[in-house]
Amino acid sequence: MKSTLLFAIGLASVAVVAGSIACSDPIPDRFVERQGDEVPGYPVGEFHRPGQACLACHVENGSADSVFSVGGTIFSGPQTLVGVEGAEVQMTDSVGTTFIARTNCVGNFFVKPDEWLPRFPILVRVKKGITAVQMKSPIGRDGSCASCHQAREQTLAETRSSMPHIQLFGGEEPTGAAATDGGVCPVDAAIPVPTAVVP
Ligand code: HEC
Ligand code: HEC
Repeated sequence: MKSTLLFAIGLASVAVVAGSIACSDPIPDRFVERQGDEVPGYPVGEFHRPGQACLACHVENGSADSVFSVGGTIFSGPQTLVGVEGAEVQMTDSVGTTFIARTNCVGNFFVKPDEWLPRFPILVRVKKGITAVQMKSPIGRDGSCASCHQAREQTLAETRSSMPHIQLFGGEEPTGAAATDGGVCPVDAAIPVPTAVVP
């Protein structure tokens, strides 16, 4: 009898643990909501949700099936949100392994764990042609650049006073049209201002 009761208690606590894993945590849910909706004209896939925190969804048990270890969007300058194609995102992790991701024509990049599974913290530098910008401090554990670098149009003054989106050139891309490196981009590299709900 006693052992049956203990067994029942055991089962109940297993159920509680299982339940807490299955039900998603309210904080990440809010974080996912804050990313806003899919932007019309940006089909689900590598070009979608530019400027958003990719790993809000692309994590184990997240709302996307595919998991990324790092992901984000590189823009050209502060005042408009124009993605930079073909930028190298050069990363080094805490044990010295390195990985270079390249941005697509909307400025998005993402790293799958089978390509590179960094041991955080990581250092990051972004480069295209002769222009490079380096993040001086290491990224502690968040693989989404946009968790800190929120994408929104900013005046130059705002860029100086608050955390800007990642911008390689501090203005227009020197070669002119930031978009396509001569190719055809299936989406507009100048993304609309995100409609994400600010907390
Ligand atoms: C709000 C949730 C959410 C955010 C934020 C998000 N995605 Fe996704 N993404 C999805 C879902 C859902 C799919 C559908 C396919 C899947 O489940 O993997 C998807 C699909 C993709 C795919 C295709 C994957 C495949 O294997 O076919 C890529 C690539 C991708 N997203 C890149 C990104 C990048 C880069 C970012 C950030 C700039 C981003 N996503 C932000 C939810 C999201
Ligand atoms: C935890 C917050 C955080 C995350 C996540 C983060 N950054 Fe940063 N980033 C910062 C801060 C703070 C600075 C300014 C201080 C510095 O350079 O360390 C910065 C600066 C930068 C700069 C230099 C900007 C300039 O013009 O000097 C670049 C480039 C950059 N980050 C790229 C990235 C990329 C790419 C990612 C994603 C792989 C990323 N960051 C993720 C917080 C973050």
